[in-house]
Amino acid sequence: MQIGIFTDETALATTAAKHLIKILNNSENKVLGLATGSTPLPLYEQLRAANRAGKFTLRGVQGFALDEYVGIAADHPERYRNVLRAELVGDDKTGLREEDLHTPEGNAADPRQAAADYDAAIKAAGGIAIQILGIGADGHIGFNEPGTSLTSRTHVDVLTEQTRRDNARFFENDMDKVPSQCITQGLGTIMEAKYIMLIATGENKATAVRELVEGGISARWQASMLQMHPNALILVDEAAASELQLAAFYRERWNHNL
Ligand code: PGA
Repeated sequence: MQIGIFTDETALATTAAKHLIKILNNSENKVLGLATGSTPLPLYEQLRAANRAGKFTLRGVQGFALDEYVGIAADHPERYRNVLRAELVGDDKTGLREEDLHTPEGNAADPRQAAADYDAAIKAAGGIAIQILGIGADGHIGFNEPGTSLTSRTHVDVLTEQTRRDNARFFENDMDKVPSQCITQGLGTIMEAKYIMLIATGENKATAVRELVEGGISARWQASMLQMHPNALILVDEAAASELQLAAFYRERWNHNL
């Protein structure tokens, strides 16, 4: 696990974009795992800028979202397919093509089957070269909430009250409007990505980041499973790093540029 701690958000997003571009450019398998939420937005802005400058494109890359709400209207702006489309799809954005954007079918008649099909589609694409992740204040990655099996595959899950409260800002500040179920890549699915890049910013992520990096591996703090991943890059700001005991050492190791 490499941990980068940044004083400003732009430096963090620039580093994230640099790593992502390098890994995708060097990968035979052009499959990118996408995250939603607020945290990856500065990274997506960097990718759009790189595309505008003619330095990088997601044209030809297959993008697979981490998760999707179950039972959200197809045209709802917070449906993750619509969020990712608005951020990434088109030559005026990152070059990602609509047909190459894959999201779990949250409105399927049988969401469990849709979850299994989604897992199979990731495998059929050859697996994810690099998976972008945020982290929930309750330690979730994707929408794998506390207590989920650490080897789970893509599945239907229920959002915790904390997650619905955190996401209410996207739903007129009304947590009752936040869907209560989702389809999410499982921990076992996420762990198969060749590279992981988790980004966390803000003080409300500090405890989750501490448990991710320095806690024991546990189903309570799902992100702690990333301690078992051979290529996990954790990029955080000072606030999200504020509960790390060994922050000084992580900075020193980062400066060795391994
Ligand atoms: P956020 O969400 O980026 O909006 O904080 C992260 C997550 O829930 O995984």
